[in-house]
Amino acid sequence: MSPATPIGLMALMKFFTMDDIFRRHSCKEFHDIPVTQEALDMILRAATSGNDHGHLRPWEFRLFTGPGRGQLADAFVRHAVANGGDSRQCEKARNAPFRAPLIICVSTMRRECNIPFRDQIFSAAASCQLITLAVHLVGLAAIWKTGVWATSGIVRESLGIGSDDEIVGFIYIGTRAEPEGAARDFPIDRVFFNPSQTAR
Ligand SMILES: Cc1cc2nc3c(=O)[nH]c(=O)nc-3n(C[C@H](O)[C@H](O)[C@H](O)COP(=O)(O)O)c2cc1C
Repeated sequence: MSPATPIGLMALMKFFTMDDIFRRHSCKEFHDIPVTQEALDMILRAATSGNDHGHLRPWEFRLFTGPGRGQLADAFVRHAVANGGDSRQCEKARNAPFRAPLIICVSTMRRECNIPFRDQIFSAAASCQLITLAVHLVGLAAIWKTGVWATSGIVRESLGIGSDDEIVGFIYIGTRAEPEGAARDFPIDRVFFNPSQTAR
């Protein structure tokens, strides 16, 4: 699908097919072009449509754009320094958030209730999947990253995320600056129709 055009995202939405799901590919290289408000609105609407056990909405989204990405860089550098990172690792941490014009940090917002926290994490992960798909549908590209920063208490604290919560992903979003991959046709394997049958 071509990038969003002035005809508007709503008009483009009419043309989506299953093929758009198969065509979604992660992206590592982005142009530093800001994500439009219109695209962001769609992405956030998708984010909050994730499969959600108990309708808890057990997630939070922190958006980093423009110079605001510096706050994320500070958090990553704090983690690197605290873990004895050398100058190369600190530099990598400082630069990481500037690799895309928009980063969404998706974390849980833990609810104490009869729904297991594990299911709440799954819901936040479902939200991440919908974000990456919505990004693709609006003509942009994304990569969902965890890495050492997602499990760092220092990063959580720096971003104001509760110590009982989990960062489920940092989703880097922007205009693709690398070739788009072809539609994928993965083998449908490890599917068991009945317990006595062998896998396809
Ligand atoms: C939960 C999760 C965590 C990921 N963490 C990282 C990461 O830390 N660094 C990275 O380069 N890619 C990360 N990825 C991206 C995958 O490596 C990437 O999606 C993979 O290359 C498959 O690409 P696709 O999205 O085009 O299928 C992560 C993906 C998922 C689902």
